[in-house]
Amino acid sequence: MSASLEQRLSRRVRQIKISATKEMPMIAARVGGCVSLGQGIPSFMTPPHVVDAVCQALREDPSAGKYSLQPGLPELREAAAELLRAEKDLPADPEREVAITVGGMEGLLCAMLTLIGPGDEVIVPEPFYPSHVEQVLLAEGAPVFAPLRRSDWGLDVDAVAACITPRTKAIIVSSPHNPTGAVFAKADLLRLAALALEHEIFVICDDTYDALTYDGPDHPDGAFSLMRVPELRHLLVGVFSFSKRFALTGWRVGFVWAQEPLLDQMLKIHDAAAICAPTPAQIAALASLTGPQDVFAAMRVELEQRRNLICARLTAMGGCFSFVRPRGAFYVMAKAEFPTAAGAVADSRELALRLIHEARVITIPGGAFGPGGDGHLRLSFGGAGAEIESACDRLAAWASQL
Ligand SMILES: Cc1ncc(COP(=O)(O)O)c(C=O)c1O
Repeated sequence: MSASLEQRLSRRVRQIKISATKEMPMIAARVGGCVSLGQGIPSFMTPPHVVDAVCQALREDPSAGKYSLQPGLPELREAAAELLRAEKDLPADPEREVAITVGGMEGLLCAMLTLIGPGDEVIVPEPFYPSHVEQVLLAEGAPVFAPLRRSDWGLDVDAVAACITPRTKAIIVSSPHNPTGAVFAKADLLRLAALALEHEIFVICDDTYDALTYDGPDHPDGAFSLMRVPELRHLLVGVFSFSKRFALTGWRVGFVWAQEPLLDQMLKIHDAAAICAPTPAQIAALASLTGPQDVFAAMRVELEQRRNLICARLTAMGGCFSFVRPRGAFYVMAKAEFPTAAGAVADSRELALRLIHEARVITIPGGAFGPGGDGHLRLSFGGAGAEIESACDRLAAWASQL
């Protein structure tokens, strides 16, 4: 980019970047022949009953290919409210408190642009999901990082408390957590809720991976969510995604919950940014919520098996990697423990680039998720078992040559 163009761009866009999660697959596409432990994409196809519902609607319903009402299809808002009632004890009002968004991502952006302005501080547990930080910067706020416990990636509420200043506007919480796969303890989340109440801090609760927990969840519906805390609701924005638990990443659909006065403001951003979520995608989301659930339950079981597989394969690499066994989402933060022989690398970006070029394996450099990720690689086990096996074969062969 020329210097003159750069000077003429907004400060907003100049201070953000495309995340490494998207960059690594683009580099790998140029190299060719890579297998992926990179981007967080569950490998499952859209289930047949969802495809059928969308196709039938497009054939028979004249409104299926048109804009929906701006906050979303009424039936989908009702089904979303029902999910919140059933899974999070949240008596959601579908008309006043639920809006359908273009993935969880647009819901997060609506929350961020509504709540955050120049100079507002937003506490982000670290390692972090890079788009959370980019969105804070886009809103011209200041991210403030609260390190997760390095021993188990648990939520360190004292570290969060130490970040609070009079300028703290919001905190972002996401459990199960990307990139660590941690599931935060209910007791820690309740302490966090108490802190937020005491200091009147908004809580953006990103439940993108909510149902994807393994080893017997703490709660029958998945991880404990701050959406379950009634006293917090006037400070809460809940963000939900159909991408991961319903394997609809490409459909770009999610929803947000907030009390009416706040949601009304967020809807102004939604209108300016997207008008409405794509109607065919909303029909897919509705079929996912209201149709048979066994297919999604089977996906969760399959992901747990993939978690077991990748952990076993990493352990078998004889000390090349150390990691905290993930209890949710579909990521392992693996610390590179290569012997300090010639050719060994510690910088996570350099390591990830070498793995693309020399081993033909896509991983995401841990440093892209904050300083706690330095020296780590984020490995996704969203891919099929055969892809995980092949990637681990290549990693093991590469590491054995160091
Ligand atoms: C923590 C987290 N939040 C939000 C999103 C965005 O999800 P969506 O596809 O619903 O926009 C992702 C996607 O990877 C994520 O990991």
